[in-house]
Amino acid sequence: MSAADGNKLAVEIAGIKMKTPVMTASGTCGYGLELLDFVDLNSLGALVVKGATLEPCPGNAGQRIAETPAGALNAIGLENPGVGVFIDNILPALRRYDVPVIANIAGRTVDEYAELARRLDATAVAGIEINISCPNIKAGGLAFGTRPGSAAEVVGAVRRASGKPIITKLSPNVTDIAEIARAAEAAGSDALSLINTLVGMKIDIKRKQPALGNIFGGLSGPAVRPVAVRMVWQAARAVKIPVIGMGGIAAAEDALEFIMAGASAVAVGSATFADPQSIELITQGLRAYMREEAAANIGELVGAAWPPA
Ligand SMILES: Cc1cc2nc3c(=O)[nH]c(=O)nc-3n(C[C@H](O)[C@H](O)[C@H](O)COP(=O)(O)O)c2cc1C
Repeated sequence: MSAADGNKLAVEIAGIKMKTPVMTASGTCGYGLELLDFVDLNSLGALVVKGATLEPCPGNAGQRIAETPAGALNAIGLENPGVGVFIDNILPALRRYDVPVIANIAGRTVDEYAELARRLDATAVAGIEINISCPNIKAGGLAFGTRPGSAAEVVGAVRRASGKPIITKLSPNVTDIAEIARAAEAAGSDALSLINTLVGMKIDIKRKQPALGNIFGGLSGPAVRPVAVRMVWQAARAVKIPVIGMGGIAAAEDALEFIMAGASAVAVGSATFADPQSIELITQGLRAYMREEAAANIGELVGAAWPPA
């Protein structure tokens, strides 16, 4: 159902048609199949799946999650079975559902990102999200996302390797998000998504040691939301390509903040841990808001909080 058929929530991001602007955030719902008892996958805007590496990755040793006030620190370290298993065993199971599946890739080198994109190019994925912002791995990840030059190098290599729509996932662990956003756009990204997690740390005072095996972790959840809204505002005003906003979204009101700050779509991550049905509730809340405001389509609200041009 599109906006033309009366679905006020329909959006198109980087050429990917979505029934709603609400998608899953990578790494917080596995491959979506884990949500089947709670969520009708057909009702999602898009299913963004767990990050894939070229080879299987065991993830980090030791404790990987620590609760914090209004959020959580994680240091999973991209545990996944490798892109081959995703393509051969998982993607075919997801094709039963009428939902765009967006892959998420993480490489240790620019060549690895390009190879991942090449492997996915021949598959049914609707798009590729490039994770240049993972704070929890030793090589690659965040190292590419904190400088415009290296961000552009990765995006350019993926662009040359694949004709699929490309979404570049940006890190909040930077001084100037606008310059990274512009670099990704100039290198050929079709959309941006932000934010990934903020680097943080917790000390276990009983053990007198860092709580996480990786020492540092990525902070997500409501605690990061104001930072995320600010960065979405700055990035969306710096580029022409659409922005997907995320970071602590747990209710329709939160999603609306991101949309009014300039996001054309939103993703829900950590809220799914507390309530696996949160994406559906957020979507229902957006529909109710559209009715109450008599808004014609969600696109009207994108950047609604910006000052007049
Ligand atoms: C346990 C966990 C695993 C994650 N794994 C990935 C990942 O594989 N790739 C990625 O791009 N982001 C990953 N993220 C980041 C989320 O997609 C999202 O950007 C971030 O958590 C902020 O959204 P939230 O506050 O709604 O969780 C992960 C986050 C969490 C909490």
